[in-house]
Amino acid sequence: MAPAGTVADDGTIAVIGAGYVGLVTAAWLAECGRHVRVVETAPERLGMLRSHVAPIHESGLQDLLTTVMGDGRLTVTDDVGEAVRGAGITFVAVGTPPLPDGGADLRQVRDALGQLRRHVGPDAVVVIKSTVPPGTTQALIDASPRDRLKAPLVTCPEFLREGSALNDCRNPSRVVIGGDDVPARARVADLFHHLDTAVIQTDATSAEMIKYGSNAFLALKISFINELARLCELIGGDIDVVADGLGADPRIGRAFLNAGLGFGGSCFPKDVAALDEMAGFHGHSFWLLKAATEVNLQQRRRFVVKVQEALGGSLNGKRIAVLGLAFKPGTDDVRQAPSIDVIRQLVDFGARVTAYDPIAGPKAEPLIPQATICTDAYDCVRGADAVLLVTEWPEFEALDWSRIAGLVRRRLVVDGRNLLDERLLNDLGFTYLRVGRRPAKGARKRRRATAPLASPAVG
Ligand code: UGA
Repeated sequence: MAPAGTVADDGTIAVIGAGYVGLVTAAWLAECGRHVRVVETAPERLGMLRSHVAPIHESGLQDLLTTVMGDGRLTVTDDVGEAVRGAGITFVAVGTPPLPDGGADLRQVRDALGQLRRHVGPDAVVVIKSTVPPGTTQALIDASPRDRLKAPLVTCPEFLREGSALNDCRNPSRVVIGGDDVPARARVADLFHHLDTAVIQTDATSAEMIKYGSNAFLALKISFINELARLCELIGGDIDVVADGLGADPRIGRAFLNAGLGFGGSCFPKDVAALDEMAGFHGHSFWLLKAATEVNLQQRRRFVVKVQEALGGSLNGKRIAVLGLAFKPGTDDVRQAPSIDVIRQLVDFGARVTAYDPIAGPKAEPLIPQATICTDAYDCVRGADAVLLVTEWPEFEALDWSRIAGLVRRRLVVDGRNLLDERLLNDLGFTYLRVGRRPAKGARKRRRATAPLASPAVG
């Protein structure tokens, strides 16, 4: 419970930033019965939110916004002062995009705190929700009195997955709260008291390290299984069975052992790079992180090489259909998506690319102007020399593959996510290649002992 005499129990919470973390957190807090005021300054987002429209695609978010904005529990403004007036707790959930050197750009966090300095009194608590490198919150707490907030500062990193972010809010694996002001931490912990979950209270830097360590470790798992997948392609074995076998050991666990095109999105690539950059800044070479990133990049290149080899060594003039643009199913986010890299490489090699995604087409289009974005999967594959599966949307499994067999020019499917039914495709006359298993004999004859990594082929 919040200590008597504080304003934490007035039910009002301010959230600075209506991005994916800020807006989902705000909507969930409103769902829990709090009054929440969200600050958004980007005119397009603000306009949509003022019309109660979610500016991002996130499962269940639109319905929840309709409810909590409809009854006035969640309001939006572009005025920080108006939002934080009377709010017992203010979350800072602005972006921390990558800098060219891989480090996190903290300008938006600093700007937000600069504004809060003017408006937030000592009775409130300010919570850093943005992903900031370990040590950041403590440095802000230790800032000179001139730069310091009047309110105590704590960090409460998020562990939300895009596509299931609301569900993750409702059923978090854990809540982590870091800072040296114990009463302030307790007031934040009180927001989660009704959840059946562990609340870990610690110092700010440990809390931030938990956030980066979690993302980095999951990225390592993915790159590790992708390295094993490569070995399976060279030596034999089936990576999906291998992953099941490894994952059956509870010390390892099956999650994040799906071999494929590797990790993308706005978090893993950025956070791995930022942790590596930060380690380097402090004189430590974090080799595992460098390796995970390199393996992840190679995974995309190898996929293109696999397609190239399957088509006899050249992609020049070939018609390639790409199914899936989002960095993972359930989202329209294409940031650092494998699809973008893969399509750019295909185009560089002279291929003509069509692409389809259930929802991410409009977001991907400006990033890959050389590709034709289709609004229908069957249009996308018409006349294709190869169909590539890049994002494991369940609807791709449910496509009428016998119809596709009649539409393509050549019956070749290269599955970058091991989603499709091999037997079905083989019965329909497709050559089916996937990740982490040796290609069938006919296809193997054309392979070199060591495949070159993406050098442009002459047509
Ligand atoms: C990730 C973390 O899972 C969240 O806990 C964290 O809060 C979030 O980053 C963040 O820092 O904001 P997210 O980026 O939404 O969430 O996506 P994930 O579901 O973790 O997947 C990341 C990438 O790994 C995707 O490209 C996915 O295709 C890939 N992946 C995942 C694999 O290649 N193999 C797997 O077995 C699992």
